Amino acid sequence: MQKGKACAAIILLALACTVSGRALQSLKPLLHEENTLTSASPNVRIDVDLSQTHPVAPNLYGIFFEEIQHAGEGGIYAELIQDRTFSGLAYTQAFLDSDAQELVLGPSAFEGPTLSLHPLHEEASHPFSRNTTLYGATSLAEQLRQHAQNGGLGATSQPVSWRPLGSTTLTLTKQYSMTGNGARSLSMRLAPAQGAPGGIINTGFWGIPVQAGHQYELSAYLRDPSSDAEALLSIEVALESSQGSHTYATAVLEDVGCSWANFRATLTANTTDPNARLALRLKGGEVLVNMVSLFPAENGVEGSVSPFRSDLLDLMKGLQPRFLRFPGGCYVEGVRMRNGFFWKPSVGPVAERPGHWNGMWQYWSTDGLGLYEYMVLTEELGAEPIWVINNGLSHEESMPTAHIGPLVADALDSIEFITGATDTPWGSLRASMGHPEPWDLTYIGIGNEDCGKPYYVTNYLAFFHAIKEHYPHMQLIANCNMGSDAPTEMWDWHWYTDPQSMFNGRYTFDSMTVAKDSYVFASEYAVFDWGISTIPRGNIQGAVAEAAFMTGMERNSEVVQLAAYAPLLANINHQGALCPTNLIIYDNHRAFANPSYHVQALFAQHQGVAYAHTSVNSRSPRDNGVAASVTCQDTACASLSIKLVNYAAFPQTVSLNVSNATAGIGKRADVTVLTGSGPYATNSFDLPFEVAPKTSELLGMSPETQLELPAFSVTIIATSSDDSSAAAAA
Ligand SMILES: *[C@@H]1O[C@H](CO)[C@@H](O)[C@H](O)[C@H]1NC(C)=O
Ligand SMILES: *[C@@H]1O[C@H](CO)[C@@H](O)[C@H](O)[C@H]1NC(C)=O
Ligand SMILES: *[C@@H]1O[C@H](CO)[C@@H](O)[C@H](O)[C@H]1NC(C)=O
Ligand SMILES: *[C@@H]1O[C@H](CO)[C@@H](O)[C@H](O)[C@H]1NC(C)=O
Repeated sequence: MQKGKACAAIILLALACTVSGRALQSLKPLLHEENTLTSASPNVRIDVDLSQTHPVAPNLYGIFFEEIQHAGEGGIYAELIQDRTFSGLAYTQAFLDSDAQELVLGPSAFEGPTLSLHPLHEEASHPFSRNTTLYGATSLAEQLRQHAQNGGLGATSQPVSWRPLGSTTLTLTKQYSMTGNGARSLSMRLAPAQGAPGGIINTGFWGIPVQAGHQYELSAYLRDPSSDAEALLSIEVALESSQGSHTYATAVLEDVGCSWANFRATLTANTTDPNARLALRLKGGEVLVNMVSLFPAENGVEGSVSPFRSDLLDLMKGLQPRFLRFPGGCYVEGVRMRNGFFWKPSVGPVAERPGHWNGMWQYWSTDGLGLYEYMVLTEELGAEPIWVINNGLSHEESMPTAHIGPLVADALDSIEFITGATDTPWGSLRASMGHPEPWDLTYIGIGNEDCGKPYYVTNYLAFFHAIKEHYPHMQLIANCNMGSDAPTEMWDWHWYTDPQSMFNGRYTFDSMTVAKDSYVFASEYAVFDWGISTIPRGNIQGAVAEAAFMTGMERNSEVVQLAAYAPLLANINHQGALCPTNLIIYDNHRAFANPSYHVQALFAQHQGVAYAHTSVNSRSPRDNGVAASVTCQDTACASLSIKLVNYAAFPQTVSLNVSNATAGIGKRADVTVLTGSGPYATNSFDLPFEVAPKTSELLGMSPETQLELPAFSVTIIATSSDDSSAAAAA
């Protein structure tokens, strides 16, 4: 294929380039006959006309969050206990939704590295799930047959996180419901062998990271199963090394009686260990355990102060997102309706949320990150919320439009929850959760990637008209341009591709107009570089291609109103990360940003308010691999951000000619360069800043300036008519 060829040529040249300048010279004829590679004669002229501008959409650059690759669970949600309610274990054992009341767990339940789906397991986990009529679903037996046929049963991506201590018998039970509404009917019964000590351990999300001197808030719900216990039980909790040989902190939970109660302890670790575990021990008797939560003290008990992991939150803030699209992605849809995301079970006290199986990405979601927390996250980021609702379509089931009334009502209720006054039913729930002030909500996405699925058009219309009737100002996002089928205010545009295609794609939006194509939300895009086998992937070449593509978004930002890279987050332990490239990679205690992250952050920082006509004129009739976009940072255009992208495997000199400047060009400028030692240059846990922007001062800037752009680089020149404030781009 043509694409493959182009890619191979670039890789060859790039490798040669890193070896020596001479190797590059000898390969030169393969590239551009006219390139001299000397700074004396520019390859490319970039003409900018500051008299021709159009506005840049105010919310152009934002972020897309999806619960994929443990982005939430084991990611931004700071809970340290994996499967705190035992529901993931119960689900994979086909116990959660069965009629059985007890399941004694044999050794096979703990064999994994990851949990396996029981061949007879039921997919159901959502409160609506039993009503298959409601969702027009096929019978359970048929679903299981299809699932088995598709090879769907097997290992999940959720590690075995609970294990018994000693010869303790662990039994999942539904006989001691903790809540009246049945949301927390499941619990775990611990029964040590007669007269022997025993208990249970949790290994967190690939280890519990503890730091010497730091405090951790434990919360657990416990009771004695017998109703006529003679003596009150005590449970010892400990943070300890992975094999239990070293203890880092202990506490005793006393007076466990014969009704459910919440027990808390603050544990102060005396050692640093990224791979610790939590143990609950009892000396005799039996105990029922539910909802075991451990958060760093800064997050508060059960995440009550802030449920977000601070290093990941800081990285997200570094992207200066204008909006946050959440909670997916395919996560919104589910494989089937029953494991889509539904907001009502995701709000209220975290200990009472049922959670659901994330059927797309194969791990348990506690829904600790529920609609409320997503809105708090949006607020912390200073971003506009883009709330994507389930529209009655999943990957394998479509709900007939005649049956989606309850889901449309759900959507309207969610808007009331977010924006309603405190005297409305759902607004008052929000207030009771700690946020009496209503949030603003402008954007709602109606489903994800659902065009072409049965009932999409009619379901879309049902949501569209109901929401518009009650909230006329709301901007609704379709999954494609609906054409004559339905009104389209804005539509999702998704693209994952190789680096060369992404670079070439910078003209994608040039042929679009608002009149013909409506407004576009480029809500998922990224270079997926399948050619690179090292994990995690992501490199400067892909990032530079994305930067070039983004210059096309700025040029066409009358059409492209919103844009977000995807995916945002990946826990490296999730099958080595599912998607080939991601912005932020982390494990349980470390994180680093990929080169693509820095492109996103730089473009967001230099988004500006207006785009000035920028043309790239190559001296060669062939494409020189240069892209550019110039934006005014203020309405008077007194500050300019000049973005120059060199996708070539060799340095290139460009001459920049800015015309019709009444202001905006000072004598000095801040020049920020993002590049690497070769196309595959990237970051890692050990070298997190190998590829990172470096800023230096340029003196002698003028409307006619020559610059050398390094191979595979993004350069941003921030200049201002007021010399002293050249760095005011942010
Ligand atoms: C300067 O602005 C005028 C008016 O818009 C335009 O006609 C002219 O082409 C511009 N000059 C350049 C060099 O871009
Ligand atoms: C299932 O949903 C249908 C359609 O809304 C409804 O008529 C029926 O009563 C529901 N059944 C149960 C058991 O909730
Ligand atoms: C940490 O505390 C535990 C008791 O909680 C103690 O057994 C252990 O020796 C202590 N370790 C260090 C390094 O102080
Ligand atoms: C820059 O553009 C102006 C207006 O088109 C032109 O007169 C001038 O020669 C150009 N300078 C260079 C170095 O190309």
